[in-house]
Amino acid sequence: MVCLGNICRSPMAEGILRHKLSNANIDVEIDSAGTGNYHIGEHPDHRAVKCLKQKGIDISSLRARQFIYQDFVQFDIIYAMDASNYNNIVALAKSEVEKHKVKLYLNEAWPGQNRAVPDPWFGDADGFEEVFEMLEVASEACAARLVSAN
Ligand code: 4NP
Repeated sequence: MVCLGNICRSPMAEGILRHKLSNANIDVEIDSAGTGNYHIGEHPDHRAVKCLKQKGIDISSLRARQFIYQDFVQFDIIYAMDASNYNNIVALAKSEVEKHKVKLYLNEAWPGQNRAVPDPWFGDADGFEEVFEMLEVASEACAARLVSAN
């Protein structure tokens, strides 16, 4: 799961997908990162933590890191939250195979529509709720795909 800062959207996506797969008994590694370096080492934004806590999901202990080339080696699928993240990640790929690992996360729920998860950083709590609703639908579809593939 990759966004810009790795303190709002992608740690929320990581937490929601982990939660959905917590009882699935499948062998999958889920992580998140940001394309930017502004927030490395920080916990998720308090508004993201609060939003998910209300849903019974704890992301308070996550720490932001920057996306690195090695992530193409480590992971089979790289989900970008918006087109800017997508382009920044694809620019680091060294092969067509690696480029094809990069997908827009909301296409899991709305195939081919290339919808973006809006950046909630400059908004209020409602923005985080809106992000949650989108990530929830995409994560449900993603979890179903992973379960059927495993
Ligand atoms: P995120 O949100 O990409 O969803 O983690 C942002 C967090 C911080 C900044 C931008 C987006 N920032 O510019 O510091």
